[in-house]
Amino acid sequence: MFDTTLTFLRTAILAFAAWVVWKIAHRFLVKSPLDNIPGPKSTSILTGNLSQMFDRHGWDFHREIGEKYGPIVKHNGILGQRVLYVFDPKAMHSIVIKDQYTFQPAKFFTESLRIGFGPGLLSVYGETHRRQRKMLNPVFSINHMRHMTPVFYAIAHKLRDAIALQVEGTAKDLDMLRWIGRTALELIGQGGLGYSFDSLTEDKPNAFGDALKNFLPTVFQVQLLRYHFHYFTKLGPASFRRRLVEIIPHPLIQKIKDIVDTMQLHSTKIFDGKKQALKAGDEAVVEQISQGKDVMSVLMKANMEASKEDKLPEEELLAQVTTLVFAATDTTTSALYPPISFVFRQAFEDGILPLSRPIHVVDGRPISEISVPKGTFIAVGVLASNRNEDIWGKDVLEWKPERWLSPLPEEVTAARIPGVYSNLMTFFGGGRACIGFKFSQLEMKVVLSTLLQSFKFSPADCAKNITWNLAGVKYPTIGKVDNHPSLPIKMELISPSP
Ligand code: HEM
Repeated sequence: MFDTTLTFLRTAILAFAAWVVWKIAHRFLVKSPLDNIPGPKSTSILTGNLSQMFDRHGWDFHREIGEKYGPIVKHNGILGQRVLYVFDPKAMHSIVIKDQYTFQPAKFFTESLRIGFGPGLLSVYGETHRRQRKMLNPVFSINHMRHMTPVFYAIAHKLRDAIALQVEGTAKDLDMLRWIGRTALELIGQGGLGYSFDSLTEDKPNAFGDALKNFLPTVFQVQLLRYHFHYFTKLGPASFRRRLVEIIPHPLIQKIKDIVDTMQLHSTKIFDGKKQALKAGDEAVVEQISQGKDVMSVLMKANMEASKEDKLPEEELLAQVTTLVFAATDTTTSALYPPISFVFRQAFEDGILPLSRPIHVVDGRPISEISVPKGTFIAVGVLASNRNEDIWGKDVLEWKPERWLSPLPEEVTAARIPGVYSNLMTFFGGGRACIGFKFSQLEMKVVLSTLLQSFKFSPADCAKNITWNLAGVKYPTIGKVDNHPSLPIKMELISPSP
């Protein structure tokens, strides 16, 4: 019996390996219509241009490819994959709105999130995604956000008091990224889950918060494997895959397993607490932090009352706990510019991308649309679109908030940029636009208005050395070598806290 199982396993692994080799060889041997799209030369057979694209100091590369090749660029990805980089408004409109079911979130990304968080909004497709959005959209409405305001103010006041204590008597350089990071986690903790991660007084570690913070950076360290996660999820039942992970003697895999276990343990604990309170009735719900006004309590209550076909199963409700905290924390922390530089999509079937203006392809012909073969990866250039000189004008890089106080230039409105917010792609658009964008705006307004009334912000002594690094969500460091996120700002009390 044991021999038969071993032979079966060996054959399955060999067949799988042969299939992967064939898929890779196919990419190198068969020409693609995308080979005619202009773009930089591949710098490595193994990783194509990805090391340039994901280089934390790769700002010049991103700017130059836009300037040199225009709003549609072909890159090379892992082992001969083609990756399109797109910020042409009409092409983005197709990807984000018109053909959003052809161009969906890339499987390598959603699978890594699904392994970590379960089937939450960021990692499901099609009907399941539609059903989840239908339940969650009303929970993020302005009406519900209004109930959050007192909760957010209470947290912002705690932050103000904590900072005031640090700079009492004299101005000091404080790492504001760390303070705002702790605050963003507490805001989504209380506003999203009715759970307190951090009292914003003493500096004590939180296992759930730390696991969440470490999840993507650790997964990023196994790049090659990450791009093939979705094959792994096809390997037999979950119990078999779990056993396989347990016996792989690789420290990073074991670290990912421990992180996932910690997130699972804590999200289940929070979820079970809410379930019990809901069962016990309104009084128990109101006694919770945020008095049952948080996103998860409202969602779980609405789900209890939903019709059979709209109801989300328990596994999907639970997955939203970690999904929300993950999606809300680093994004809001870094949000003084668009924190997300590009969003990945993958063509789930052959598709066509129409262009706002014709481009000249490698063989010199002008084309006004591009055929995109099934499987192609597409990076939607959020930052490139927000800084597109052809649309926003020559002064695009200047800090000019008054841009939005007078009518926008005709080029901006005519471009029909498919973003949900102010003709920007920062919060994306279409059926998968950021569900938390009003939540995030409210957080930022409450925290900034509270801090600005009490403190003067000036550049820290080391301000010249601060570098912003490109990543899934970009982050600042002191200098170009150190990889520890930090943003010192000189803080000075201008009025005592009431
Ligand atoms: C400045 C802060 C934020 C920015 C710039 C931002 C940006 C984005 C972007 C670009 C996406 C699309 C990602 C993709 O499809 O691959 C997204 C999706 C999402 N965001 Fe945000 N986000 C922010 C804050 C938040 C907050 C505070 C929450 C929760 C309270 C949140 C929850 C989500 C969720 C659940 C999704 C997935 C939506 C779906 O697929 O249907 N985000 N966000």
